[in-house]
Amino acid sequence: MSSGVILAIESSCDETAVALVRRGREQLVSLVSSQIALHAPFGGVVPEVASRAHVELITPMISDALEQAQIEPAQLDAIAATAGPGLIGALLVGVAAAKALAYSWNKPYVALNHLEAHAYASFLENPALEPPLLVLLVSGGHTQLVLMRGHGNYELLGATIDDAAGEAFDKVARFCGLGYPGGPVIDRLANDGDPTAVRFPRALRGEGFDFSFSGLKTAVITHVRKNPELSMADVAASFQAAVVDVLVEKAIAAAQSAGVNRVVLTGGVAANSGLRTGLAAAGRAAGLDVYLPSRAMCTDNAAMVGAAAWWVLQREGPTPLSGGANPNWRFPS
Ligand code: KG4
Ligand code: ZN
Repeated sequence: MSSGVILAIESSCDETAVALVRRGREQLVSLVSSQIALHAPFGGVVPEVASRAHVELITPMISDALEQAQIEPAQLDAIAATAGPGLIGALLVGVAAAKALAYSWNKPYVALNHLEAHAYASFLENPALEPPLLVLLVSGGHTQLVLMRGHGNYELLGATIDDAAGEAFDKVARFCGLGYPGGPVIDRLANDGDPTAVRFPRALRGEGFDFSFSGLKTAVITHVRKNPELSMADVAASFQAAVVDVLVEKAIAAAQSAGVNRVVLTGGVAANSGLRTGLAAAGRAAGLDVYLPSRAMCTDNAAMVGAAAWWVLQREGPTPLSGGANPNWRFPS
């Protein structure tokens, strides 16, 4: 009988991650090595630095994961890797490692979309969770509302027309000299600030399910330039409140319009305290079940890749070893 265990690799950006996941639900081991300290001096992710770090880390991390879970390669059902979207050099490290192992161990290889993987993070922490549900995916590169009718059955309801939510956090923090990545710093600062101190714009409010954060980012930067004496905590809290308001309102409205009563939050920005509290409260008020992944499950990890890979393998079978990486791979495709 098959073990149902998939070895999963994630290397799309600045986290090298390896996990072993059973039948899409049970995380046996999940290792994440963040490169934040390597990139911080540059104020953002440097693609070549990321690729080199992935190359150094990937093989020892795969050995560690197998050893920690006491799994032999022969027991694996498949090897999965994120094949896009992301940085091409970074993606290729994980894809090449997964394909080489799949070939030498004679196991199926599965290519995963990073955004589909994020959608599966909550399935690992809520073993009874089932579609239909609405996914609010908020990360450094993407902000979108996806209706998941069933496994592999997705519809894009809305997306950002300019900056992603995480990108807005990172750019505002960078301008204000708060460091990188900006999300966690602004989140901490906002805790001590007044969210009503400055009324920043809430773009596209009440106008469908698309988002826009570029105007907000510019409004914050302009305001800080004109009022340098302002408390950074108040600016952070007011900016965060503007982002959270639109994300929460649109997620609730989208779930109601699609007729689903489960909302799943995912992506790096899902770690934001204001967003977690705001979405949970609005969900309760609207009679919807809101699923908030643990903070470790919000940011990039390979367990979510292993969870999504289980369903992709059942549905589509193995990916040919001739498949490469696609830095612009859309989701839903
Ligand atoms: O999903 P992720 O780890 O990588 C991508 O696939 O993009 O998301 C990283 C993004 C960064 O923009 C980071 O600033 C943001 O998530 N982030 C946060 C918080 N923690 C991470 N944004 C707001 N509040 C946080 N606590
Ligand atoms: Zn991500």
